[in-house]
Parts: sequence; C-alpha cells; structure tokens
Amino acid sequence: MQLTKLQQDMLNGEQGSGTQIAMEIIVTLAKIYEADVLLPIKSCQVSGVSYGNIGEAGLEFLEELRAGGARSKVKATLNPCGIDLENWESLGYSKEYHENQRRVLDAYEGLGVEPTCTCTPYLLDNVPRYGDHVSWSESSAVSYVNSVIGARTNREGGPSALAAALTGFTGNYGLHLDENRIPEVKVQINVPIKDYIDFGKLGLIMGSKLGKKIPIFSGLVENYCSPENLRQLGAAMAASGAIALYHVEGITKEAMLNDNWSKNDLEEIHVDNLAIICDLTGLEMQESGAVSIDLVFYGCPHYSSDEILSLLDDLRGKKLKTPLWIATSRSIRQELLAHEDILNDIDESVKIIADTCIVVSPIDTLNIKSVVTNSAKAYFYLKNKSFLDVHYISSSECIDAAVNGLMKNTSKGNE
Ligand code: F3S
Repeated sequence: MQLTKLQQDMLNGEQGSGTQIAMEIIVTLAKIYEADVLLPIKSCQVSGVSYGNIGEAGLEFLEELRAGGARSKVKATLNPCGIDLENWESLGYSKEYHENQRRVLDAYEGLGVEPTCTCTPYLLDNVPRYGDHVSWSESSAVSYVNSVIGARTNREGGPSALAAALTGFTGNYGLHLDENRIPEVKVQINVPIKDYIDFGKLGLIMGSKLGKKIPIFSGLVENYCSPENLRQLGAAMAASGAIALYHVEGITKEAMLNDNWSKNDLEEIHVDNLAIICDLTGLEMQESGAVSIDLVFYGCPHYSSDEILSLLDDLRGKKLKTPLWIATSRSIRQELLAHEDILNDIDESVKIIADTCIVVSPIDTLNIKSVVTNSAKAYFYLKNKSFLDVHYISSSECIDAAVNGLMKNTSKGNE
C-alpha cells in the first residue's frame, strides 16, 4: 500500500507519538483489509465513551494519545456516555461514577473530540453529505449515514474511529468501495409497514436473518419511510445483526441512482405477515394480564426535537404513575427549553435525559427492574440484561403504561 509523504511522516512519528499510534492503527487495519490507499475523511463519530464500558484501560489509552500530542484533524463527535452530565445527581447516579465519566470526557476533549454525547450527531452539526468518506462507529449512526444520507463508512470500532479522527484518514476498503455497496438480498414487503414499531420489528427480524448482508427493500411505501422510521429500521438491523448499509427501492438515494440493481439476480425474502415476524423475534408477551413497570423509555436512537415535541404533545395534561425518560442530546434539550408552554403542562415524572441512554448507562444502580420501550434497539440490548424485564410496545402503549403504572397485555401480532 502506497502512503503519501504526510501519511508516512505521521507513521514515522513526525507529528508526535500520539498521532503515530493512531496512524499505526489505521495502517494495520488497511493492510489487513487489503486497502490500496488511505482516504482523507470528512468526519468521525466515536463510540466507547461510557466509563462502564471503557474503564481504566480505555482511559489510559486516551491519556497516552493525549500525552503524545494527538489532536483530531477533522470534525469529530462523541457517542453517549454513561450518565446525564447535568442531572446525574437527581437521576440517582453515584458521585464516583460521575467523576470517572468526567475523566473520560476530559481525555476525549483533550484530543479535540467534541463532547456532544449523542448517537444522532447528524441532527446537530456533524452532517455528512452524499458520497463523503467518513469514519463512524456507533452502529445506528453508521447505518443512517450509509443508507439514508449515502455517505460512506465502515462499521468502525471506537478506537479505529478515533484513530481516523487523529490522522484524518481511513483505509480504502469495505463500504468505501462501490462494489461493496451493492445489495446482496432483496426483501419484498407484502404487508403494510407503517409505524415506528413496525419498522423496528422488521429491522429486528431482518438483522437476525441476514447477519451482515446488504438488503434492498422493495414495497416499502414512501409516505411511511420518514427519517425517524428509517433510523429505527437501521438501528434494529444493526443491533440484531451487523447490517451497516441497506437500500430502499425508490427511496434511498443510492438505490435511486442505481435503478439497474433491481435487475440483479438476487436471493429474495418475502415478508407477508408481521405477526410471523413477532413470533420469530419473541416480541409477543406469553403471559396474560398486566405487568407492573418501573420505567418507560423513548429515544434510542436519540430523539430529534420534533419527535420529542410530538411525544410531549401526546403527554400533555396526563398524570403518570411511572417515570418516563426521553433520551436526546444536550443541545436539543436546551433548544426545547424555549417551549415553556408545553413543558409546563407535562407531568414531572417525564424527564428529558441528555448525554446518555438506558443501554450505556449503569441502570442496575438505579433499582430499575422492568422497562417498556418503543425502541427496537433498546429492547434488543436490554433483553440481555438478566436483572431486567423488558417489553417492546408502540409509542401510544408506552404512554398508557406510564399513565397506569403497568402494561396491559392487549396486543398480539400486527397492530
Ligand atoms: Fe443511541 Fe444508546 Fe440507542 S447510544 S442508538 S440511544 S443504545
């Protein structure tokens, strides 16, 4: 692989030992995946922020890079961390965790990575354009920028996205190449997929069925393919599988520019009945009656201000028996303060939490035992926490659950 003089200088340590370590990571990966060159990138999104996930070993690595003078060369933003940095105390997180989390954020800031602490930075000012090469690591964000925006990134790990930020380069392999972005399987939708929850169900089953294969969906109706629904679809497929890119016929830009893809001789999967999807994914409650709940959770991936305002509108004037969290970025929470008229009419059990989410946060320390959510990705990951009872239900059912303090088992199959 040919390196430019600038790249070789970084590798030789001319820009300090921190940049040298980062370039070694980039070059090693590029060689493993047989890249011909390193590509300049436009932006990075770095995961691995929660102190609970990276711990002291991760902190040491960040501090070594910082001591070696490394600094981000491109726009770089951070994924959610383990706590709400402003309201951690009132939400019940410990002082010790807060101090450790601050150390992680200080280390990243020292490297020039902006502490935005969100998985939807494309709702703020980290917004790639079609065809841009970027290096992102949060799986739902990777799926969104590849599929909906049409930028190009592999599904990076936190360290490799950070290394790309500190050098400004990534290897030319994987999803940076045209030939690796072509669909491998056609998913023919023969059933109405309309709501946020339907897109999540579809995503969970397709992720578990397809693994890493790139699907092209046919039969999804444009009116229902809002950015929010596509985000839920992609996040779910990236959680239950490892799908980093999908296309939607007639809707996503890359599919529209390559309408000859429909003539490809592809493996085909037909989706005829969403109830079957539910059975396969174990989404339906087996028991009858009602289940008491400790928390209702929205905002995975982090909600936009429109999504929050619409939810707050639905919650207006309602008295809740169960805490309800809506996760978003700090900037969006700040923006919402302007909507005093709505906020004044909302039960105090509703918390707009920022910087974190229920999945990356140490919720085992908060005495939460049962959760309902409208997020397919949150459902998928929380299901694996042994101390939690978790249910995936529609947005309106989540509101009913918060009002009643329990979830009634009323739904079965498609809604
Ligand atoms: Fe974002 Fe946390 Fe979900 S990082 S995608 S809200 S698991």
